[in-house]
Amino acid sequence: MQKNVSLQLNHFYTIINNMKTLDELLAWRRSIRKFDAAKGVSREEIEQMVAAAIEAPSWKNCQTTRYHVAMGGAVDRVKACLAPQNVTATEGVSVLVVVTFKHNIVGFERTGEPTNELGNAWGTYDAGLSNALFLLKAAELGIDTIVLGLRDAEALRRTLDIPEEQTVVSVIGLGHRVETPERPKRKTVDVVATFHE
Ligand SMILES: Cc1cc2nc3c(=O)[nH]c(=O)nc-3n(C[C@H](O)[C@H](O)[C@H](O)COP(=O)(O)O)c2cc1C
Repeated sequence: MQKNVSLQLNHFYTIINNMKTLDELLAWRRSIRKFDAAKGVSREEIEQMVAAAIEAPSWKNCQTTRYHVAMGGAVDRVKACLAPQNVTATEGVSVLVVVTFKHNIVGFERTGEPTNELGNAWGTYDAGLSNALFLLKAAELGIDTIVLGLRDAEALRRTLDIPEEQTVVSVIGLGHRVETPERPKRKTVDVVATFHE
């Protein structure tokens, strides 16, 4: 009995010690452009990332973001839809995820009229919020990512049979880094934020 309790405590301490703070995750996450082909990403890990993404806020809780996950043989089919520099950037990648959103819902009234000037840009906004949580969960699991905007949307639609009512946004590569790149320079808070009283 006592041994059981001590085993449970050990397990608990292992979890606590491995927990990373948000700041640590933000510092660790980088866009990786060379992956270790010997290290895979499991379906279970991807499901955890999608589950985290589902917790994102969304317009009227519409949750229109979709994840089309290419694994195994499908990876090369998705790679064929990327710009040449992104084929190079995804060398050794284990999984490629095509992000879409169901358009004409978020940012639109029931009548079909756009609620304001942004229209479907709100759907892209929701997809970005969802993707941010997806990337952070990946980082927590020790999985590296690269977001790719240079891709052929129609070729992706054909190869993964993506329905017409979905707009293709980005492709996210998943895998494990071969090396850690430098942190690209960031703007400072005083440039990005304006405070009003
Ligand atoms: C919407 C979006 C599109 C991007 N498209 C590409 C791309 O096509 N190819 C690429 O190598 N990186 C791409 N990136 C990665 C950015 O270049 C990268 O996030 C940025 O340089 C900051 O580096 P960091 O992610 O390591 O902090 C994209 C990132 C975002 C958010």
